[in-house]
Amino acid sequence: MDIRDVEAGELDALLALYEHLHPIDQPLPARHRVEAVWQAIIGNPAHHCFGLYCDAQLVASCSINLVANLTRGCRPFAFIENVVTHSDYRGRGYGHALLAHAQTFAWGQDCYKVMLMTSSKDPATLRFYEAAGFDRHDKQAFIAKPPA
Ligand SMILES: CC(C)(COP(=O)(O)OP(=O)(O)OC[C@H]1O[C@@H](n2cnc3c(N)ncnc32)[C@H](O)[C@@H]1OP(=O)(O)O)[C@@H](O)C(=O)NCCC(=O)NCCS
Repeated sequence: MDIRDVEAGELDALLALYEHLHPIDQPLPARHRVEAVWQAIIGNPAHHCFGLYCDAQLVASCSINLVANLTRGCRPFAFIENVVTHSDYRGRGYGHALLAHAQTFAWGQDCYKVMLMTSSKDPATLRFYEAAGFDRHDKQAFIAKPPA
C-alpha cells in the first residue's frame, strides 16, 4: 500500500475511481475541458489529489485544498473533498489511511484546521469521519447553491 499524489497521466484511473463516489453524477463535459480542469488541479500547488495504491492500482483517493488566510496568525486552513474507496476495496482501512495522510500533510503546512463536508446520511459514513478525527458537532455548515 502506497499513498502519493495522483500523477498527470492517471486522469482516466481517477475518473474511473470517481464512479464509485457518486453512482449517479452530472455528466462530464467534453474531454478537452476535463483535461483542462485536471491540468489546473495538478498545476495548483495548493491542491493535492492523493491516491492510495495497491499493487500499483489506484483504489482510493481524496483531495485537499489549502486556503491562504489573514486571520489565525496567517495560518492556512484546508478542505478535504472527494473521499472515495473503490467498492471492492472498502473496509480495509484505506479510507482512514488516506485521511490520516491528508491531515498529516495539512498539519505539515501549518493549517490550523481541516474541514470536510458530506451529504451522506449513512451512519457508517458519519462514524467513519468521526473515527478519523472530524467532529460533526464543532461547527454548523451552511451550503448555498446557484439559482436553477
Ligand atoms: C466512506 C468510504 C470512503 C470509506 O472508505 P473505506 O476504505 O472503506 O474506509 P476504512 O476501511 O478506512 O473504514 C471503514 C469504515 O467506514 C465505514 N463505512 C462507511 N461507508 C462504508 C461503505 N460504503 N462500505 C464499507 N465501509 C463503510 C465502515 O463501517 C467502517 O467503519 P468501522 O471501522 O467502524 O467498521 C467508502 O466507503 C466510500 O468510498 N464510500 C462511497 C463514497 C462516500 O460515501 N464518500 C464519503 C462521502 S462524500
